[in-house]
Parts: sequence; C-alpha cells; structure tokens
Amino acid sequence: MADPNPRILPYGMAALAEAAARITAGECVAVPTETVYGLAADAGNADAVAGIYAAKGRPSFNPLIVHVPDHAAAERLVMFDADARALAARFWPGPLTLVLPLRDGAPIASLVTAGLATLAIRVPRHRAMQALLAATGRPLAAPSANASNQLSPTRAAHVAQSLGTRVPLILDDGATEAGLESTIIAGRTILRPGPITAADLPFPALPYIKESAITAPGQLATHYAPRKPLRLDATEARPDEWLIGFGAVGGEDMLSATGDLREAAARLFDALHRADASDREAIAVAPVPAEGLGVAINDRLARAAHR
Ligand code: TXA
Ligand code: MG
Repeated sequence: MADPNPRILPYGMAALAEAAARITAGECVAVPTETVYGLAADAGNADAVAGIYAAKGRPSFNPLIVHVPDHAAAERLVMFDADARALAARFWPGPLTLVLPLRDGAPIASLVTAGLATLAIRVPRHRAMQALLAATGRPLAAPSANASNQLSPTRAAHVAQSLGTRVPLILDDGATEAGLESTIIAGRTILRPGPITAADLPFPALPYIKESAITAPGQLATHYAPRKPLRLDATEARPDEWLIGFGAVGGEDMLSATGDLREAAARLFDALHRADASDREAIAVAPVPAEGLGVAINDRLARAAHR
C-alpha cells in the first residue's frame, strides 16, 4: 500500500530523522524557516538539486538560496567583505540572504547558482531548518516550497496544495513567523526587499530599483502571482471582487485592522491564498503604505498583480 502523499509530519524527532535520511538519500523535503516553507535538498548533490527544480517546475536560470547552520559554515563557501561581515554579525541567524562570490572548489552543485560566480546564502533562525542542517551536516539549497509562479507557502497545507505528490515529506511546524521571503542583499543593494528593511541596515542602502526586467536573476515579474486577476489600491470591492482590507479599508479579509505592517506581512500570503480559493472571480487589495516593511509587501503585491 502506498503512503498517502505528500506526508505531513509534525516537527519532532521522528520527523527529523526521516527528513534527514531523505536529504542524505538525495531527495527533497519541505521544511519551515522563519520566512516561508522551503523545499530543501543537499546543495552539493546536483541530482538532488535537479529534484527541486523538477518539483517546482522552476525556470532553470533561477538560482537557489543555500542555507547553512552558522557564519563559519558560510565562510567556507563564499568570500565575505567588511560590509557582508557586519550584516552577518547583526542579522544571522535570521531572514537575511547575502549574495557573495563563491569560493573556488566550494562543494556546491552548479545547478544551485545556475552557473553564476556568486552564491545566495543565509543562516536561518527557525528550529526545524536548524535541526535539519545539524542532522544532515550538509548545506541545504531551498527555494520557497511552491510550484513556480505560485504563491509562497507559509503553512504546511500550502505546500501540500501547491506541490502535492511532488514532495515526499513536509515537516509541519505551524505558520511561519515573517510570512515573507528573506531580504536579499548584494554589496549595498537590496535585490529583494523583505523582513529586514533598508532602515535596519548599518549603512545607507543603495536604492532598491523596481526592475522592469530581471534584477536578481529569476526575480520574474510573475513570480508571486495568484491565479486570479488582482487590483491594487482598492478602497472598495467591485462586483465579484474579493477585497483584502488594510487599516480603515475593510473587506472580505484583513491584513491588519490597526495598520500594523508586520502583522500585514505575516498574513499576506495567507490572505492571497484565501482570495484565490474564494468563490469570487477577482481579487482587490486595499492600499498599503510603501514604507518600511510596506515596501516588501507592495513588491509582492505588484508581482501578484502583474499578468
Ligand atoms: O526566505 C527565503 O529566502 C526562502 C526560504 C526558504 O529561505 N527562500 C527563497 O528562495 O525565497 P527562492 O529560491 O524562492 O528565491 C531565491 C531568490 C531568487 O529571486 C533568485 O533569483 C535569487 O534569490 N538569487 C539566488 N542566487 C542569486 C545570485 N547568485 N545572485 C542574485 N540573486 C540570486
Ligand atoms: Mg520563491
């Protein structure tokens, strides 16, 4: 009798042991981080990494983020400058990804970087991802655990809905904390806004330029798109729209009634998933101020609205 697929196991010793065994055997496993659920595989095993691309149906030019347990492990894979060291000291473990030159001979499959000379790397804070790193002793490549061009998953159920039987095991440790993918920084430029904002940085960030083409390779404009059309800056719903509210603008759903951007970020993908699953034809979202975390929220919303 085949196991019900995908298997969702609550975080614990048994789930970890099975997850680590699967990673070591070259499979991928869905695991929560403090940002979103990731689809993890051994970053040194090209077949395993190919399994990630296959499961996601992801364009092959889109490189992956590698997760390591601590700064020392990162130093063995990439070359830090003073700015990068300052950022690592301040924000790791946490939702910050640094794009740094890959060391010669670093044991990273080239499929991970899609052939680039740089590697996107981070030290996650979440206990499940940290435990998996410890149990496998391997750097883990992990993009968000969703099919390409679908919403990023903030719950185990989202992973199951998006990837279905293409992922053999999902470690379930509840909803993720940040609800947005990590901030990506190359040099002093924010390539992808996220939970760590420009104001948090120990130096003036070079301005984030909303790309018309591709800035971070693979930051495709359609990356975060729900299935339904989405209208931005809506103050009321049109017929057959599902309105996601914010602050004074109420609706079928609410990002934050008090206008709290952290709360809104944590709820954003959940709300978009609900809107996509609703009986309405279209989605509308109330205006969210483009300051602080609101920059990342608006970035995701603009991508979700792009068709
Ligand atoms: O929060 C996160 O970062 C989550 C969790 C699972 O850690 N991961 C995640 O990975 O969002 P992913 O693969 O969905 O996004 C990786 C982003 C892509 O936009 C990719 O193009 C960019 O990082 N990226 C990867 N390597 C890069 C590189 N060498 N240079 C520039 N951008 C890079
Ligand atoms: Mg993603």
